[in-house]
Amino acid sequence: MVRCARSGTPALTSAADPVRDLFTRTFGGKPDVLASAPGRVNLIGEHVDYNGGAVLPIAIRQRTWVAIRRSSGGMVRAFSSAQSEAGSFDATRPARSGGWIDYLAGVALELGRDHVPVPGCDLVVWSDVPLGSGLSSSAALCVAGTAAFARVLELPLDAAKVALAAHRAEADFVGVPCGIMDQFASALARTGHALHLDCESTAHEDVPFAEAVLIFDSGVTRSLRGSAFAVRRSECDRALALLRERWPALRTLAQVTPAQLRDAALPPLLARRARHVVEEGRRVASFVENLHEGKGASGDILLASHRSLRDDYECSIAELDWFVERAMEFRGVSGARLTGAGWGGCAIAVGDEGALEEMAPLVATDYRAAFPHQPRHWITRAGDGVRVE
Ligand code: GLA
Repeated sequence: MVRCARSGTPALTSAADPVRDLFTRTFGGKPDVLASAPGRVNLIGEHVDYNGGAVLPIAIRQRTWVAIRRSSGGMVRAFSSAQSEAGSFDATRPARSGGWIDYLAGVALELGRDHVPVPGCDLVVWSDVPLGSGLSSSAALCVAGTAAFARVLELPLDAAKVALAAHRAEADFVGVPCGIMDQFASALARTGHALHLDCESTAHEDVPFAEAVLIFDSGVTRSLRGSAFAVRRSECDRALALLRERWPALRTLAQVTPAQLRDAALPPLLARRARHVVEEGRRVASFVENLHEGKGASGDILLASHRSLRDDYECSIAELDWFVERAMEFRGVSGARLTGAGWGGCAIAVGDEGALEEMAPLVATDYRAAFPHQPRHWITRAGDGVRVE
């Protein structure tokens, strides 16, 4: 079952106020249900979810809230403060409109297909998850929306089912070619832990992770609807198809061993893409092992991941490479890398919390001098996944 917020928790109450107020201002009265879900950063395991490998994201502090109340009509009427825009769809026949409301229409369609149709509702969305920064604002919206509709329908969905419905809404209905990492992180993450998720089986464990993480937003916006992400996915599919000619039992690219990769002699570009996926899988395993052994976040493994994303997967940009190099000049910073899909968005740095706090504004100042973008930064710790109250 989706975890319920403890009533009376001061931080939660104050965080819920903006969405309650927005609901009252928009529709009058009070909502029946409040659901919230966080954005995420991935510590390690990049571009492996859609290749059947393991990932290690954490939920961040910023969340998306949905306040909802059943209505008598057959329409879902919504307003998003993040988009400053209203939207609506027919609850009995959710259809695509090309706007932000499609994420909720997709969720309604998925719940209707698997369970019962969503009834007419009034709802508002309030969020402090930055949009277009690679922190999974859309997954947070789909997960919070799924949990909110499920509670209105009194569907006993567990967090994994919420994540899967949210993923189908985004991938199949909206048409974003994403893997399952973001929705699982947003639904299943736990405070003080990273989520170690096997993206083929969806088996998962919570790995204790209490360290501070600096998130540095390059200010270069990106969208997965752009072509580069889809191109990488098809390159991975082509690499797997060639490998299967020799090893037909291979299910995923993440399963391939370094020895198979050497023997296969793939065309150079596909070999580099596949090498990233295969080696990233091994890096995730070592990183998790070190956390279990109490050795903390291994900065050298994060740096190796960044180099692989830059050189083999070619999804970094000059701004993110610059950040990683600059961050590593500070004493007490142990590792850094781009996080999320790349081609813009955010990087993370780990290390001593004092060092991260001291370094962030200095690096931001230098960044503004070097590039024509406005960076932002936050220090975060692993937070909770979806909540309903
Ligand atoms: C985006 C996608 C995820 C994942 C990452 C790269 O965030 O939504 O599914 O593929 O890129 O690791």
